Amino acid sequence: MMIALNAVSFRYPRGNWILKDINLHIESKKCTFMVGPNGGGKTTLGKLMTGILKPTLGDVFVDKLNTKQAKLYQVGTKVGYLFQEPERQIFAATVRDELAFVMELKGIEKEVIEQRVEVALVRFQLQEVADSFPFQLSRGEKQRLALATVLMNNPSFLILDEPTTGLDVERKERLSEIIRELKKRGTGMVIISHDERFVEKHADRIIIVAGGGARDGG
Ligand SMILES: Nc1ncnc2c1ncn2[C@@H]1O[C@H](COP(=O)(O)OP(=O)(O)OP(=O)(O)O)[C@@H](O)[C@H]1O
Ligand SMILES: [Mg+2]
Repeated sequence: MMIALNAVSFRYPRGNWILKDINLHIESKKCTFMVGPNGGGKTTLGKLMTGILKPTLGDVFVDKLNTKQAKLYQVGTKVGYLFQEPERQIFAATVRDELAFVMELKGIEKEVIEQRVEVALVRFQLQEVADSFPFQLSRGEKQRLALATVLMNNPSFLILDEPTTGLDVERKERLSEIIRELKKRGTGMVIISHDERFVEKHADRIIIVAGGGARDGG
């Protein structure tokens, strides 16, 4: 499993070029960080890697799928994506329902779903808000719920956009443990972060995204 960008340039409709002629190979089983200034294009690049955005020029391959031709759900079974704003991926009536949703779509047995939801509630320290309305959660709770939901899909690759935002010291440490577990399991990760300590702790590779380009550094 790998993600490849071949001669990718991107601009939003009627906008300026945000990314210019990017060539990148992202291998799985590694933790790759994308860093750089605000507005540099990290989120845009992350969305290109999931097929949410398509390149204006060039091609993005996820495994062997070209995101221009593939359906979003095909890419979605391989790559899990955590939005920079967790609200964007929350829509169920309770935390429990939010976690169960993907598995219900897949038609997984009710008892199996319930078990997995319980495990996720403990893993992400969401037991106390299990029956709450997700939109009323605190920023950090929403963040944990969004990540827990993405992981319910068991993606072989993960793209996390600013996953430490809103997390306190203890919760950030818990997130670090989860990242280490995922790495052991061989899950490939691209993490966008401004949190230098967090980057230092987990990065196998650092890509600097700035001025329309993406280069190895750090
Ligand atoms: N939907 C959009 N339409 C037009 N321009 C956009 C859109 N989304 C982002 N941009 C522009 O694209 C550029 C790159 O934005 P992007 O969100 O990718 O940067 P970023 O590196 O993730 O920044 P940050 O560190 O603040 O999250 C910015 O100049 C932004 O204004
Ligand atoms: Mg961003």
